[in-house]
Amino acid sequence: MVRLHRSLQFLLAFIVYSKPLVLAQETKQFIYNNGFTEANLILNGIAKIHSNGLLELTNTSHHQIGHAFFPLPVHYNTSLLNNSGLSSFSFSTNFVFAMVAELRADNGGHGIAFTVSPPAELKGAADTQYLGLFNTSTIGLSSNHLLAIELDTVENREVEDINNNHVGVDVNNLKSIQSAPASYFSENENKSLQLTSGNPMQVWIDYDGMEKLLNVALTPARSRKPEKPLLSTPTDLSLVFTDYMHVGFSSSTGSASSHHYILGWSFNRSGQAQSLDPSKLPQLPHGKKSGGLRIIFPLVIVIVLLITISATINIARKRYAEIREDWEQQYGPQRFSYKDLYKATKGFEDKELLGRGGFGMVCRGVLPTSKAEVAVKKVSHDSKQGMKEFVAEIASTGRLRHRNLVQLLGYCRRQGELFLVYDYMPNGSLDKFLFNDEEPNLNSVHGFQIIKGLPSGLLHLHEEWEQVVLHRDVKASNVLLDADLNGRIGDFGLSKFYDHGSTPQTTCVVGTLGYVAPELTRTGRPTTSSDVFAFGTFMLEVACGRRPMESQRPPEEAVLIDWVLECWNRGDS
Ligand SMILES: *[C@@H]1O[C@H](CO)[C@@H](O)[C@H](O)[C@H]1NC(C)=O
Ligand SMILES: *[C@@H]1O[C@H](CO)[C@@H](O)[C@H](O)[C@H]1NC(C)=O
Ligand SMILES: *[C@@H]1O[C@H](CO)[C@@H](O)[C@H](O)[C@H]1NC(C)=O
Ligand SMILES: *[C@@H]1O[C@H](CO)[C@@H](O)[C@H](O)[C@H]1NC(C)=O
Ligand SMILES: *[C@@H]1O[C@H](CO)[C@@H](O)[C@H](O)[C@H]1NC(C)=O
Ligand SMILES: *[C@@H]1O[C@H](CO)[C@@H](O)[C@H](O)[C@H]1NC(C)=O
Repeated sequence: MVRLHRSLQFLLAFIVYSKPLVLAQETKQFIYNNGFTEANLILNGIAKIHSNGLLELTNTSHHQIGHAFFPLPVHYNTSLLNNSGLSSFSFSTNFVFAMVAELRADNGGHGIAFTVSPPAELKGAADTQYLGLFNTSTIGLSSNHLLAIELDTVENREVEDINNNHVGVDVNNLKSIQSAPASYFSENENKSLQLTSGNPMQVWIDYDGMEKLLNVALTPARSRKPEKPLLSTPTDLSLVFTDYMHVGFSSSTGSASSHHYILGWSFNRSGQAQSLDPSKLPQLPHGKKSGGLRIIFPLVIVIVLLITISATINIARKRYAEIREDWEQQYGPQRFSYKDLYKATKGFEDKELLGRGGFGMVCRGVLPTSKAEVAVKKVSHDSKQGMKEFVAEIASTGRLRHRNLVQLLGYCRRQGELFLVYDYMPNGSLDKFLFNDEEPNLNSVHGFQIIKGLPSGLLHLHEEWEQVVLHRDVKASNVLLDADLNGRIGDFGLSKFYDHGSTPQTTCVVGTLGYVAPELTRTGRPTTSSDVFAFGTFMLEVACGRRPMESQRPPEEAVLIDWVLECWNRGDS
């Protein structure tokens, strides 16, 4: 049973291996025009076949070697040295290659060599300038029996390279018998080629055993075989070759590297190698097609730049996006651009923050064009409802001018946000003076100066303006001190306008707890009297040096007004 199994295995092995053996009798010609997937090439080092059949000898990894050899040796009969014997050394081959440099097209490395050598493995060979063919101890030895047609992209003085872009014929050595700069002759012109351009190119190698002449030509992949070869080198390969030789490619990288590709290959010992059809060759990996990095790279940079620029513009556009409606045109002078406000406040930076609360935040800023100091109040608003009226009122407020009112300069609208721009009051709010221990307390002279102007400011709002303006939020924190310590009523964010003689329509109670007049909570209708009530509370606040509501005090003292009234009724002073 075991024996049977063994013989079966042997039979199977014979069937599998007999196929190439049969082929061996015919290995005088082959052609790979559609990739190397079926070729069974002997691969060494980092050489590999891509799924589309493309043969990659090396990628751009540094100090690497890649070998690819036809699986079966070519048989020469070196004992036949008469005419017919010599002619049997003739061969013809052509292949299409591409080199895509890692960084710049003029800085690839190190190259490809079409190689005819007795062993297919080239064990112990070195990378870099040795092209995977020799090492320091084997270079130059006739025992190598090696022919190489090098496509060399690095100039190496040691081996007398002519430049970093040449074709050379090497026998057992890297010092070429003959070499020439990569070029081809076409239309009576000598045209130079850049091996590492990334463009596919074709190499034509013909050896005539009778004449002992090796011709090498190089062209772009799509050109026909040129009439004049680049190199025409006399050499007797019958003295070099052994009976069994392998044909293939060797390639290496050093600290400079390229992708080294073979796209197609044909070989013939009994005539001209068939031409390759460029349209059938496997494609180079995406982005490395003809033109290579030289075109793709700048293109990528341009695209990336364009994307970056448009993204930046988009971000800027988004950052500065505002809401501007047709009806706002009439308020042109009061309308600020968000970009200006953003720049003025350095993007609403914390350093510029003057205050923050349930209403939103206030930042100091310097307008970019006029260099005027302003305070920008940012409040959130959700609905469009009432916006038109609101903006109309803001615009009216902007026309209010009084030495005891903080000047509203204008506004700006964004999605969900509203900005009110006021004159900047360098001394902040009175609130801060009254209740902040760090600030110097007001002496009575200053206190009086601050307060004395305020009633005329309120009077201006209520009586002297063409409309009645209800402030609706008079309180210590809304009284601001200018550079001369004059008190000014500020923050018209809640103010309502109505014509003299009419009554305001609003039924929404706004204001601050402690300042709201008792009747307001019942009627919901603000009047000049409710503003005056708030003002009175504010006066008591200044006089008593305490807030209108202090819940931590005993209940009878919590509400300032009730407490003062009680004291008044008791006859206390
Ligand atoms: C090159 O190929 C080798 C083997 O396939 C792999 O290990 C290496 O990462 C590749 N290098 C690059 C730069 O792609
Ligand atoms: C070489 O050619 C001679 C004469 O044709 C022949 O006798 C000999 O067997 C050949 N050798 C090989 C290895 O094929
Ligand atoms: C070459 O030599 C071999 C034997 O060495 C002989 O068989 C063959 O006929 C010769 N061919 C010619 C063309 O003279
Ligand atoms: C050079 O290659 C030969 C043959 O493979 C090997 O025996 C030898 O050790 C190698 N020498 C060096 C210096 O790598
Ligand atoms: C083209 O010019 C180079 C020198 O630039 C020379 O080595 C080469 O032989 C010339 N090729 C042809 C086909 O004339
Ligand atoms: C080899 O040459 C012969 C004779 O010219 C030709 O018929 C054949 O197609 C060629 N084969 C290849 C693969 O080039």
